[in-house]
Amino acid sequence: MQGRVLLMITGGIAAYKACFLARLLQQAGFSVRCAMTDAAQKFVGPVTLRALTGQPVATDLWGEGQSEALDHVEYALWADLVVVAPATANFVAKAAHGIADDMVSTLLLASPCPVLVAPAMNDNMWRHPATQANCATLRERGVHLVGPGSGWLACGTVDEGRMSEPEEILQAVKDLAATIELRPDETPSLSGPWAGRRVIVTAGPTQEAIDPVRAVVNRSSGAMGYALAAAACAAGAEVTLISGPVDRLAPRGLKQHLKVGNAQEMAEAVAASLDGGCDWLLMAAAVADFRPATAADAKLKKNELGETWRLDLVRNPDILKEIVPDHRSDDTVVVGFALETGDVVNAAQAKLQEKKLDFVLANDPTQAGSGFGDTAHQVTLVDPDGVVWESESLPKPLLAVHILDRLEAARHGAGA
Ligand code: PMT
Repeated sequence: MQGRVLLMITGGIAAYKACFLARLLQQAGFSVRCAMTDAAQKFVGPVTLRALTGQPVATDLWGEGQSEALDHVEYALWADLVVVAPATANFVAKAAHGIADDMVSTLLLASPCPVLVAPAMNDNMWRHPATQANCATLRERGVHLVGPGSGWLACGTVDEGRMSEPEEILQAVKDLAATIELRPDETPSLSGPWAGRRVIVTAGPTQEAIDPVRAVVNRSSGAMGYALAAAACAAGAEVTLISGPVDRLAPRGLKQHLKVGNAQEMAEAVAASLDGGCDWLLMAAAVADFRPATAADAKLKKNELGETWRLDLVRNPDILKEIVPDHRSDDTVVVGFALETGDVVNAAQAKLQEKKLDFVLANDPTQAGSGFGDTAHQVTLVDPDGVVWESESLPKPLLAVHILDRLEAARHGAGA
């Protein structure tokens, strides 16, 4: 699906979910630009949305440094549809009365396209006759509403007023988009340090066959690697994503998406991609260190394996240590991940020395605030001199944006 979505974010706690919504919209094929009220910026920084979308965020009608690209009419005319999420009671009231006293309300009034509003507020505010009348006014004017749903509210009660989940809003956007004419977006991504860089990202586990139905696998879901690839694409890089067997949507804007099964295939894909030229290699894949010595052609019979089954495993090639040095150029920056439990940083530094890496991102998915899959995660960036930066525990799409920023800074000698 193509199409241009202007995502307006107003000041409620659900503003953080707008970051996921921006990412989901992009993954669904939409181009996304954002506008934020002052109050929204108390919850989420415009830098995050700028990095996620690769486009400037409209925040201020009068602020210094606002280029003509942030002219309110231009942004309003760019959009095929507007999504306001979260929409506070105050913003719903302003929209109903045509008030245009800041960038976001001005953009809304100047937008001739269909509008979808996702209200989010306290239950009493939602039930208040003024809010209900304002919503009715909006509906009469053809504005579409999604939610609010019921659940935990920021004020501590469980009631109606909670912003619909990003997935529900995405579905509402798709439903609305199916009824209108959508235009492709030719806007180049924001030029930043990652723009035009050739980046290779590996993601996910590898799967080492025992027989046609059984395999040695690990718990990596690919979320971290896919998030890095998406962040690099949004920042304008030319990204090759080499993925182990996971079922994930390819980030929008990839140059190449290579799917591999086992460690040997991943090694070959990394080597061939490096031969094509690479500025940064980000090895987030959890490559299996061992594979079965032989893979049987037919399913091994349980009864023939006996009560205790001993499986011989042999070492897989270490891609970073044994393959990358022969295929990287002197300028390629090589970043490994170190998956450790226990003394993560020391082990990461040992891996950095052993595999001759420029940087290592140490992580321990068994710690609170970290994990495999689509969870929040925490990493520690290590260079040959020690710890450069310790991240907070953040959802992986946001963490990936911060990782790219920190790698770029560290590359130029700026620490935490
Ligand atoms: O996929 P998710 O569910 O989001 O989880 C993310 C993650 C925890 C898997 C990820 O953040 C991570 O840590 N990936 C690297 C896992 C790993 O293999 O770590 P390691 O310490 O065993 O290996 C160190 C580095 O060597 C890694 O960059 C790895 O890609 C690389 N390696 C490992 C083995 C091998 N044979 N060849 C390699 O190149």
